[in-house]
Amino acid sequence: MNDEIIKEIKQLKEDKNAIILAHNYQPKEIQEIADFIGDSLELCLKAADVDDVDIIVFCGVNFMAETAAIICPDKKVLLPDNRANCQMADMISLEELKAAKEAHPECEVVLYVNSRAETKSEADIICTSANAAKVVESLNSDNFIFAPDHNLGVYSAKLTGKDAIIVPEDGHCYVHTIFKPEDVQKARSEYPDAKIVVHPECPEDVKELADYVESTGGMVRLAKDPDIKQLVVGTEIDLTTRLKRENPDKEFIPLRKDAFCLTMKLVTLEKIRDSLADEKYVVEVDEEIASKARVGIERMLNLSK
Ligand code: 13P
Ligand code: SF4
Repeated sequence: MNDEIIKEIKQLKEDKNAIILAHNYQPKEIQEIADFIGDSLELCLKAADVDDVDIIVFCGVNFMAETAAIICPDKKVLLPDNRANCQMADMISLEELKAAKEAHPECEVVLYVNSRAETKSEADIICTSANAAKVVESLNSDNFIFAPDHNLGVYSAKLTGKDAIIVPEDGHCYVHTIFKPEDVQKARSEYPDAKIVVHPECPEDVKELADYVESTGGMVRLAKDPDIKQLVVGTEIDLTTRLKRENPDKEFIPLRKDAFCLTMKLVTLEKIRDSLADEKYVVEVDEEIASKARVGIERMLNLSK
């Protein structure tokens, strides 16, 4: 059954000159058919770099597909399931961000890429979990407004020694805030030889107990380190799927088995086939919003070159 659908996807990709990009949290069967898998930054860089395709099928959540649509206005960006939302991205509204800017006109605005296109249009610069500290370092101001992930805001302020005004106060990812210091302590006693890596969206007290704090792309690179044979992984469950596939001789242990992003799993092989066949669901960003949002995204991408 899957073989037949995969054949159809390959044919449709060829007929329509399309490419499939997938986030690291996508399930195994999607990772296997993707042309490129990555973290949010790597996916942005890839989208900015693909000149010779007409369609990008984005297997991830809507803010990622919107970012690709903003960077590639000449391409059709498709989201196989238009309900694939990131809860965190909706935690900051345009009004709230504008109010913070008015209250702190001296601050530049760093917006986490996990946000909607219209809020991005009010940002000075975008960041991802892979480059937040580098982005904050690059600012001209000592204080900055950060939205919407509280934990990443606190962490980037701590790494750079700058002060963050974080809006809203409780912006978070429901997947990463389930991790507790006890989970790290338990993993340490159960796997004394293992290293422990967690995502920056985890709470500060969890990050403090881990050996490494990395974006999902950073975790993929860390797993390839020859000194690491056993790694406890504090992020969404399917990151270990990629790590195991790429490093079959090593052991990867999820820090919690219930760290599951529901909307990341809405994409299926059938939906990718239908998405390509019917060219749905097209991700459209109003050009006025997109042109403003592009400024902050490009400023970030220039730092990564
Ligand atoms: P990465 O950019 O590290 O892949 O993170 C994206 C994300 O949504 C984490 O929950
Ligand atoms: Fe959003 Fe959290 Fe899912 Fe990442 S894991 S896409 S931040 S809800």
